[in-house]
Amino acid sequence: MLPIGIVTVSDRASSGVYEDLSGPAIREVFTEWLATPWQAVHRLVPDDQPRIEAALRELADEVKCPIIVTTGGTGPAPRDVTPEATMAVCDRILPGFGEQMRAVSLRSVPTAILSRQLAGSRGASLIINLPGKPGAIAECLGAIWSAMPYCVELLGGPRLAFTDAAPRYHRPSA
Ligand code: MTE
Repeated sequence: MLPIGIVTVSDRASSGVYEDLSGPAIREVFTEWLATPWQAVHRLVPDDQPRIEAALRELADEVKCPIIVTTGGTGPAPRDVTPEATMAVCDRILPGFGEQMRAVSLRSVPTAILSRQLAGSRGASLIINLPGKPGAIAECLGAIWSAMPYCVELLGGPRLAFTDAAPRYHRPSA
């Protein structure tokens, strides 16, 4: 079973003030689109940079997730530190992911320019930041899905299989 990391970053969800809805929304999208047998490895952490970094390092280095998706903490508020944590643990940043997700999100909400979401690699793991809104999950994952499988392969990860419900993906020919 392929482990897929899902990190929900939220002070309120992690302290039980409200239910984590975006973590399950990510799980739902992968269930619908990923045909390769996989299992979610979920972590729920507060908006605290060391805690987020620790979860990302564990999922990349120990659990060896080829894909780690975060949700929450990408806005401009003082406690939004998910991009900082992502930058700190990544070997390299892949700016196209954030650019594309913001471009697609802007079609539905003008405040999408407030999102500082980014993506990068740590070893063979691709880490992708999604916004905290559950409604943004499928939209943002859909925005980058076409390039994600090839990226996972280039990083040394597995060749993924997808369902017919998944957005089309692109693999350049030799
Ligand atoms: N993207 C989509 N698709 N839908 C949204 O509702 N909200 C925006 C932005 N991107 C949003 C979105 C807003 S208001 C903010 S502040 C940022 O995501 C960051 O949100 P986060 O701090 O919950 O991650």
